[in-house]
Amino acid sequence: MKHTIIITGGAGFIGSHVVRLFVNRYPDYRIINLDKLTYAGNLANLADIEDRPNYRFVKMDICDFEGVLALMQQEQVDGIIHLAAESHVDRSIKDPFTFAQTNVMGTLSLLQAAKVAWDGRWEGKRFYHISTDEVYGALEMTDPEGIEPPFTTKASSGSHHLAYGSKFFTEDLKYQPHSPYSAAKASSDHFVRAFHDTYGMPTIVTNCSNNYGPYQFPEKLIPLFINNIRHRKPLPVYGRGENVRDWLYVEDHARAIDLIFHEGKVGETYNIGGFNEWKNIDIIKVLINTVDRMLGRREGEDMDLITYVTDRAGHDLRYAIDSTKLQRELGWEPSLQFEEGIEKTVRWYLDNQQWMDRVTSGDYQKYYEEMYKGR
Ligand code: NAD
Ligand code: TYD
Repeated sequence: MKHTIIITGGAGFIGSHVVRLFVNRYPDYRIINLDKLTYAGNLANLADIEDRPNYRFVKMDICDFEGVLALMQQEQVDGIIHLAAESHVDRSIKDPFTFAQTNVMGTLSLLQAAKVAWDGRWEGKRFYHISTDEVYGALEMTDPEGIEPPFTTKASSGSHHLAYGSKFFTEDLKYQPHSPYSAAKASSDHFVRAFHDTYGMPTIVTNCSNNYGPYQFPEKLIPLFINNIRHRKPLPVYGRGENVRDWLYVEDHARAIDLIFHEGKVGETYNIGGFNEWKNIDIIKVLINTVDRMLGRREGEDMDLITYVTDRAGHDLRYAIDSTKLQRELGWEPSLQFEEGIEKTVRWYLDNQQWMDRVTSGDYQKYYEEMYKGR
């Protein structure tokens, strides 16, 4: 079956990988990238596919209910993959209103536009909402040294293979968000389920762990630190660097989204993750060694850039996703070991210094004006 799909937030980090995958893999689908182009949206992330006949970019705010409705009706959209969001925890601590506006009201506006456009004709329709593991709150760290985990995947099968506690996030866990970011995402997840339960809208929600890979905005740990190591700038480690995150290569997340969009069960929630837990400080050491080696420096030469700073307020201690439901029901697995993924990621940022320089200088925001003027 052919589809016309709106992907929201397609100019951002994960969204750009999802857009690229769908545009390349499904030439007979129509892919509409709906993005407001906030500071996090960068059309240069999609330069390789922007002239494809099955791709259209629309600059729009998801909060613009009338605009989204008109677009859905005009284009006869039958699927929405919703990634647009304010996504950075530190920003949410400073400015929670923007997070409630975009993540909650924006999601509600999309849901309502889909409800009006589809008008109860749910057959063949799908509203797929992308969320985060952060809605589940924080897990205890029962063993700071790490223990043999009960699960292994390709992502976690490298040299480092540890769990830092015996509990994991499963789909049936109670939501306990702590940051304004995760509170807003949790609220949006509830609205999506409410539209399924109340109106019968065919919705799916997925909650994924921390992503890493090319095109991530350098306010997030991995690209920020790679760039700082390259330029020998201090690496601000929050607290003692003991917090644990569960890392997944972004293309593996995009593949999971493709699979779930097509084969996931309506009304269901799936957790996505690679059972790949790392303490921040351990990842930072891997990054320093990798950047140093690739730049021909002595490995570990830049360890003294590590600078412990005041902890993030309400900093969640440990995230660890249990994705066995997705593996069991749909056969998804990560394709990359973390070591391979980090190698590819560092290589990409070092090879794409111009992308990084344009982002850090703010120049990337001119891209839209130049590329789309007069279209
Ligand atoms: P990002 O910040 O890199 O990109 C967000 C995109 O949304 C940008 O292109 C931005 O311009 C757009 N956007 C923001 N507000 C908008 C609005 N009002 N209307 C239209 N577009 C708007 O985010 P990301 O890291 O790619 O995350 C994408 C989604 O995945 C988010 O919903 C996030 O909660 C979720 N997620 C992210 C991670 C992660 O590790 N990055 C993990 C799990 C889930
Ligand atoms: P981040 O990339 O912001 O993702 P999230 O908060 O959504 O998990 O941060 C990942 C981890 O790295 C988190 O525990 C906070 C920590 N961190 C630092 O120690 N220093 C930094 O400068 C940043 C951005 C993050």
